[in-house]
Amino acid sequence: MTSPLARRLRRAAAGCGSLAIAVAGLVAAAPSGAAATPATAAQYPNYAPTPPMGWNDWSYYQCDIDENTILGNARALVSSGLAAKGYDTVTTDDCWMAHARDSSGNLVSDPVKFPHGMDWVGAQLHSMGLKFGIYEDAGTATCGGYPGSLGHWQQDADLFAKWGVDYVKLDGCNVPTKPGETDEQSYHDTYAAWSQAMLNTGRPMVFSVSAPAYFEDGPDWDKVIGWSAQVGNLWREGADVALGQESAAAKWSSLKYNYGYNVGLAGLQSPGRWNDPDFLLAGDSGLTRDEIQSQMSLWSVMAAPLISSTDLTHLSADALSVLGNSDVIAVDQDPEGLQGRLVQQGDGYDVLSKPLANGDRAVALFNTSDSAQTITTSAATAGFGPGSSFVLKDLVAKHVTRTTGTIAADVPPHATVLYRVSPGGDRFTAPATTITWHDVSTADHPGTYTLGLSDLGPTGLSDTTIALTAPAGWTVTPSTVRVNRVGAGETATAKVTVTAPRAAPGTTVSTVTATARYVAGAAGGDSVSGPLTITSVVPYPTLADAFNNVGATLESDTAPGNLDGGGDSYSADALAAAGATPGATITANGLTFTWPTAAPGTPDNVATAGEAIELSGQGSALAFLGTETGFTSGQVVVTYTDGTTSTGTLGFPNWCCSTTTDYGAKTALAMDHRNTQAGPANYGVTYRVFSNTVPLTAGKTVRTVTLPNQPAIHVFALAVTP
Ligand code: GLA
Repeated sequence: MTSPLARRLRRAAAGCGSLAIAVAGLVAAAPSGAAATPATAAQYPNYAPTPPMGWNDWSYYQCDIDENTILGNARALVSSGLAAKGYDTVTTDDCWMAHARDSSGNLVSDPVKFPHGMDWVGAQLHSMGLKFGIYEDAGTATCGGYPGSLGHWQQDADLFAKWGVDYVKLDGCNVPTKPGETDEQSYHDTYAAWSQAMLNTGRPMVFSVSAPAYFEDGPDWDKVIGWSAQVGNLWREGADVALGQESAAAKWSSLKYNYGYNVGLAGLQSPGRWNDPDFLLAGDSGLTRDEIQSQMSLWSVMAAPLISSTDLTHLSADALSVLGNSDVIAVDQDPEGLQGRLVQQGDGYDVLSKPLANGDRAVALFNTSDSAQTITTSAATAGFGPGSSFVLKDLVAKHVTRTTGTIAADVPPHATVLYRVSPGGDRFTAPATTITWHDVSTADHPGTYTLGLSDLGPTGLSDTTIALTAPAGWTVTPSTVRVNRVGAGETATAKVTVTAPRAAPGTTVSTVTATARYVAGAAGGDSVSGPLTITSVVPYPTLADAFNNVGATLESDTAPGNLDGGGDSYSADALAAAGATPGATITANGLTFTWPTAAPGTPDNVATAGEAIELSGQGSALAFLGTETGFTSGQVVVTYTDGTTSTGTLGFPNWCCSTTTDYGAKTALAMDHRNTQAGPANYGVTYRVFSNTVPLTAGKTVRTVTLPNQPAIHVFALAVTP
């Protein structure tokens, strides 16, 4: 994520005494009203009565942009129909500028990337009926190192107004702390000065404030959000969402993380003053349909800005339908302007409720876990007064049902079911139903399960059958269950046994689905499906079966490696010179390993992701040879032949760039260069492979070792030490 990096940059600038003093005079030159305390600061006009919507290049392109990128995506916004649905603001983020201001101190666009200038880009956007957004930074430099606006507030605001800008995102990298002030005060002064400068231009420009992101979780966080709501219209309050090129796992965990910090801030939002948990990633590689729908639905219930940051010129049909779902957009843009609140939380799920202008409520059932589950809440919990009939409209499936008060859904892993709930309903609306799988946590997988079909409405079901479907080669017995009648408010149960062929080594996630079809009185025929997630973990016979490469490339091979996620890897030549050739015995720090027999090549695949490896032996410790590329450690689980387990923390120092004894590891191999696509390179550091150990339970025989679920940890060899 970029924010911690941004914060480091900011601290570096703040820590630079001469710089801080040099700019202090400039900060002091802020209009006196603008630098006043939050309570008396002018309230910036409400230029965003509903959460802003649009597109921003950053998450997908970062600095790899030019006028064609921006305008190509703008055209796609229009031709896809998304602009007409409200996505109307196109913002060019960091890196649009030249590295220096002109002789008059004005910002200038990069002459190669934006040869026609930003005002021309803005005019093109306006001619497409779109709004023109632009990025600047409140400090001495943008996060990407381009000219910041410190001391140029009015000049930059005037320039933006002259260019026809409609939306300004003002980042907060490199904001120096004035002597005698806190960080928070210096940020306030700077953002208040900008707010005043924008007001002075007389041009209505939506103001997106990034200050709170630099105070995330700190003691001043709420305070900074408080004055951001005075000086601007929306604010980034936490970490950046994952970038387009990151892994699917990194994207999903970043979406959950940003959701997690934003959901707790509902009390600090008010209509027209929006919390911004960052961009929508629908359209990016890796995320599933359920995951992008979850983000869209959760962001909408939280009344968050809907700002896509993907390549709209190659948008998938799934991404387009998720982004363009008018019913979901209407929840986000509801004129009441309230952020939905967490009303219930349980094991692996959250329930949010958002009051809507017409008295309805949007209720989101978010399955945060890796297994399907039925999530159940009630109209009362969602905030409704007494009532015995409510209509549930599933805003994605468009299925409409009726309940006497229970609000529930069968939710796949990582998915969110979003209902618009309203009091009322009649006998022509089918009853809400769910299928819940039981015994899931205790049964062997696959095994025997009880499933329950529940009728949550005021009318019963007749002619009911439940059909079971499973992956090819599996059996479900019985495959069809005839239930006939289910009374209103009742649950009918059935027992089914699932068998599956032996899964291949590794982790396999499979789904068995029960689909009930029935007649619901005057409402006629209807159906419901309840998925069961079966996860089987079969240990790999050897480490080599789990990993097909060693994370090293030959210097003669220009194919890209990717040990570090950035395209670089160990040099196989340098490793060989240090004794690590395929199959070689490596003895280091009193431990003995066998170097992988796999020949160096691509793609590198040594990142651990929770793989289980068969390993037999008794001893005092489990020894690992490896490294890490992301400053992290993780948990190893050892399973013994008697079924008991023990755990230990495994960490290695970074392969090139940290102290060499982190997590108690020791250097096993040291090399003076690494390999890149451009050949061997030495950036002035040593590249190392380390050994480390995790204790074993004395007297027990190891059966399997489960590696950390931490892709930044790379394991090349493991062994039981006597
Ligand atoms: C910060 C912001 C991002 C993006 C980059 C540009 O990290 O949070 O959204 O604007 O800076 O450098």
